[in-house]
Amino acid sequence: MTISDSSFAFVSDLARRETAMLYDPGKEYLVEARLLPLAREAGCTDVDAYVLRLQVDAAERAKALDALTINETSWFRDMAPYQAFTELMLPSIVARREHTRHISIWSAACSSGQEAYSLSMLLDEHLPPGWTAQILATDISHKMLARVEAGRYSQVEMNRGLPATSLVKYFSRAGSEWEVNDNLKKMVRTQHLNLSTSFPPLPTFDIVFIRNVLIYFDLDVKRDILRRVGQVISPDGFMLLGSSETTLDLDDHWDREAHGRVQVHRPVGYANVPAFSPQPTPESIAMTGA
Ligand SMILES: C[S@@+](CC[C@H](N)C(=O)[O-])C[C@H]1O[C@@H](n2cnc3c(N)ncnc32)[C@H](O)[C@@H]1O
Repeated sequence: MTISDSSFAFVSDLARRETAMLYDPGKEYLVEARLLPLAREAGCTDVDAYVLRLQVDAAERAKALDALTINETSWFRDMAPYQAFTELMLPSIVARREHTRHISIWSAACSSGQEAYSLSMLLDEHLPPGWTAQILATDISHKMLARVEAGRYSQVEMNRGLPATSLVKYFSRAGSEWEVNDNLKKMVRTQHLNLSTSFPPLPTFDIVFIRNVLIYFDLDVKRDILRRVGQVISPDGFMLLGSSETTLDLDDHWDREAHGRVQVHRPVGYANVPAFSPQPTPESIAMTGA
């Protein structure tokens, strides 16, 4: 390993301050592997020289932070959350939103977009006719957001969890890559958002997927993010975390409900939120004779 202790301390402090991601001792190999290509690109002899550059170059710091994000993702990751989406969450929201016929979803920490586009495929298949849907895909990495917007994936990425029928139905060849079709792209909007700082104005979401990102933060940051997600989720909405993440002992504003192999989180007291009762129309009044 060539990264010095002081360079590692600088980078880990920078990542914690700017993104809340924890790079504890033992992760030197990771930091080095991520920064070495940038060091070479910047003409530095090694990672330590590059870290000296980071101390005086804000644009290079932004690039380095982007490179330090861990963007592991796949289509329909873990499957069970997506089953819960079609079997539980979507029918529940559809039953309660007859007045707007609109569903609003947040894919927080979306990485290269497989989560948002997996959800858009399910919406395309299961949303009743006449309904609209919007998925807001956010991440701290500008590079990842550009990838979501392009909607292009390599063959290796396509092989990770995407059923062949979905490939045929929702993608077209684009050179050596595959590009998601426009009808799915139209459902997905991107926005740069750092979960560890206060959120910009956001709509109220019916469903929030915030998966495999809390694991990178310390307890106080996790707590704070969960509290702020609670402020932008509808009282009868749903939140999905990663399979190793939980609200237990962190934030007691959430109820947990098992659906198959997955824990679905709901704002406490959602059971008391009345389902929407439609305003009487002249036709319904005539039918009931009221
Ligand atoms: C492991 S990926 C998870 C992707 C997807 N949610 C999934 O479960 O497959 C973690 C993502 O969190 C993003 N991330 C890390 N720190 C963040 C922060 N402070 N705010 C927003 N996104 C962050 C990274 O850029 C990365 O794309």
